[in-house]
Amino acid sequence: MKIAVLKEPDSEEGRVAMTPDTAKRFIGLGATVLVEAGAGVRSLILDFDYSMVGAVLTETAADAARDADIVLTVRRPSQEILSHLKKGALAIAMMDPYGDNAAIKAMADTGVTAFAMEFMPRITRAQVMDVLSSQANLAGYQAVIDAASEYGRAFPMMMTAAGTVPAARVFVMGAGVAGLQAIATARRLGAVVTATDVRPAAKEQVESLGAKFVAVEDEEFKQAETAAGYAKPMSAEYQAKQAALVAEHIKKQDIVITTALIPGRPAPRLVSADMVKSMKPGSVLVDLAVERGGNVEGAQLGEVVTTPEGIRIVGHKNVPGRIAATASQLYAKNLYAFVETLIDKKEKVLAVNWDDELVKATALTRDGAVIHPAFLN
Ligand code: NAI
Repeated sequence: MKIAVLKEPDSEEGRVAMTPDTAKRFIGLGATVLVEAGAGVRSLILDFDYSMVGAVLTETAADAARDADIVLTVRRPSQEILSHLKKGALAIAMMDPYGDNAAIKAMADTGVTAFAMEFMPRITRAQVMDVLSSQANLAGYQAVIDAASEYGRAFPMMMTAAGTVPAARVFVMGAGVAGLQAIATARRLGAVVTATDVRPAAKEQVESLGAKFVAVEDEEFKQAETAAGYAKPMSAEYQAKQAALVAEHIKKQDIVITTALIPGRPAPRLVSADMVKSMKPGSVLVDLAVERGGNVEGAQLGEVVTTPEGIRIVGHKNVPGRIAATASQLYAKNLYAFVETLIDKKEKVLAVNWDDELVKATALTRDGAVIHPAFLN
């Protein structure tokens, strides 16, 4: 059983799908681990660190992939890489499954069995495999660090001999995994934090972190959570009420961090250009939803925009990748926990149980076809 890990071809992707720790565990399960040289460098892992635990280094991605039974990557592998894989080899990654059906179909055509880690069900057993949580948590942390570094003032209140510095006011919009970590991080830095969400369950979580909850709590709000725990798209009427509340609140904020997403849809637009304009010069907005269309009007993917009024809108791509070493550590552990369930530990061979709910939920392609239910209608 051969497991390959490849260097991410995108120079902006600093994460890697395996750490020396998970390599060692795979080897312990009887696998041969093949690592493309340089795969971990941008996550502060040297080739030597992998070879120390018994992994085999290869010069090229193709050398690692050719005989592999499982190929682990951070992002969806390129067609070129897929063309090197054996038919039926498993490719496991964050496949970014929505919005590019042609690429998913092309992946199926190569005959690989692809798993999308994003589809992992959010059930207790699979918590350790939840890549959306592990990466969103770090994105929430990093958003506050990015905001603090763009903000020309201090976060905590300081009472000094030279005068008192007021605490920064931070407003977090969307209190899911990323938002809750942003709240916790901003609180640790001493900010006065408020937060909003459309899911009622978020209120208690926000308050338990010491932040104040600000939201339109009407009848629609009470029904806004799906059975899977996600937000529903809200009606135009709710959005108008929400916008009025947010407009009043935002004027008084120094930092706004937006994280609002609805699965499989463009991100809801929560902050208009007028709201941005109403903030004080030097204020900072960090839009974590920018890759899905953005919560903030004027946010530009991959850029920090400064408005004529001196307000910065931060739209970094791939925010978990900005803290790559930690993100890799958690992502690699997520992958290990899943892949371990695909291995017969006694026989030391790959043994995918196609009846397992985790396998059914994440399998994207098999035997030349796209098989995930999200693509079958
Ligand atoms: P997400 O990344 O899909 O969305 C982020 C947040 O934006 C969510 O809290 C959502 O309610 C909010 N949002 C959407 N539209 C909004 C709007 N118009 N205004 C304000 N906020 C808006 O969500 P994430 O972070 O993936 O978490 C979704 C749910 O899953 C949460 O209930 C979380 O607690 C739950 N969860 C459960 C896990 C488990 O049981 N294993 C693991 C991780 C999360």
